[in-house]
Amino acid sequence: MVFMTRPPLYYGQYLKLDRLLSLQVAESSKHGAPVHDEMLFIIVHQTYELWFKQVLHEFDRIEQDFSANPVDDEAMAHIVHSLARVHEILKLLVAQLDVLETMTPADFLDFRDYLFPASGFQSLQFRLIETRLGLPESARVPLDGEAVERRLSTADRQKLAAARKRPTIFALLDAWLERTPFLDWGGEQFRTAYRAAVVRHLSADVASIKADAELPAERREREASGIDKALEAFARIFEPDTNPDAWRLSPRSVQAALFITVYREMPAVQQPFRLLSLLMDIDETLTFWRYRHALMVERMIGRKIGTGGSSGHVYLRSTAERHRIFGDLFQLSTFLIPRSSLPELPADVKRRLGFVYAGP
Ligand code: HEM
Repeated sequence: MVFMTRPPLYYGQYLKLDRLLSLQVAESSKHGAPVHDEMLFIIVHQTYELWFKQVLHEFDRIEQDFSANPVDDEAMAHIVHSLARVHEILKLLVAQLDVLETMTPADFLDFRDYLFPASGFQSLQFRLIETRLGLPESARVPLDGEAVERRLSTADRQKLAAARKRPTIFALLDAWLERTPFLDWGGEQFRTAYRAAVVRHLSADVASIKADAELPAERREREASGIDKALEAFARIFEPDTNPDAWRLSPRSVQAALFITVYREMPAVQQPFRLLSLLMDIDETLTFWRYRHALMVERMIGRKIGTGGSSGHVYLRSTAERHRIFGDLFQLSTFLIPRSSLPELPADVKRRLGFVYAGP
C-alpha cells in the first residue's frame, strides 16, 4: 500500500500550519498598542487572498480548455464545473463581509492609521481576476486620474502586464460563440424569421405604450424611445458595420448567444446555456460584492478618504456600475419573446440539437 512506502504525513505538516498560522502579525502590536480586532481584519483579508488564489487556479484550467478549437464535450464540462465553483467562492466572499462587519467603525479607527497607505486597492490577485475575466482597461474608473497600476509595486505591475497578454475569458467566449455551427444550420431563412418575430414583438410593445392614455406623455415618450434604441441595437447584430459600439461581443457571437438562450432546452445547447448563465452569475456576484464592499466602507469610514487615497465609497460605487464584464449577455433578455411567438425550428435543426436516438 502507498502509505507503507513513505513516511506518514501529519495534518499540520501537509498544510504547513506552523507557517500559515504565524502570518497574522498585527501592526498595532508592533507599535506597542495591540488592538483586539486587528486579528479579524488580517484573517479576513488573508482568507480573501487564499480564495482569490483558488479562483485564479480555476481560471488557468478554464483558459486551457476554452482555448481548444473545437471545445469538446469533456472540456466544456470542465469549464462549466470550474465556473460553478468560482461562483460559489464569490458568494462566500460576499458573505464574509458580514463577519468583518462585526468590527465596529470605532474599533477599526483604533488601528486604521497604522495601515496607511496600504489598501485592498493594491490587491494584485483581485486585479488579475478582473483582467483575466476580461475587464477592458479602457473601462476602468481611474483613481484620481491615474491608472490602477500606478499604486502597485514594480513586481506586481509586471505580473499584471503579463496577465494582460493572456486570452481573457471574455475573448475566449467571443471566439467560441463565433464558431458555433448551429447558427447556420437553419440557414438565412430561419435567422430572418427570428429577427422578424422579435421586431414584431418589440414594435407591438412600442405601439401599446404610445396608445396608453394612462401614462403621462413624457413617460410614454421615454419608454418608447428606450425600446426603439433596443431595436437599433438588435439590428446591429444583423448589420454589423453600422455601429460596432452597441455590443462588446461580435455580432455573430451575440446571435449565437441569443440562439442558445432562446433554445436553451435543446440538449445540444443545455451546457452552453449553463456556461452563459454562470458567466452572468459571476458578473452579478462580483458586482454585488463591489456594492456590499462600498456600503461597508461607507459604514466604516463615512466620508473620509480611503487608506489608498480614494474618495472611498464614491469611487467604489462607480466601479460597481462601470466594471461589468458580461453586460452583453444581460442585454439579451430584451430580445426574448414568448415561446408562442417563436418561429418553428426547422426539423433538421431540431434533430441535430436533440439526443433522441433515431435508429441506425
Ligand atoms: C474595514 C474594512 C474595509 C475598508 C474600510 C475598506 C476600504 C476600502 C477603500 C476606501 C477602498 C478604495 C481605495 C482606497 O482609497 O483605499 C478599497 C478598495 C478595495 N478594497 Fe477594501 N476595505 C475594507 C475591507 C476589504 C476587504 C476585506 C477586502 C478583501 C480583499 C477588500 C478589498 C478591496 C479591493 C479589492 C479594493 C479595490 C476595489 C476596486 O478598485 O475596484 N477590502 N477598500
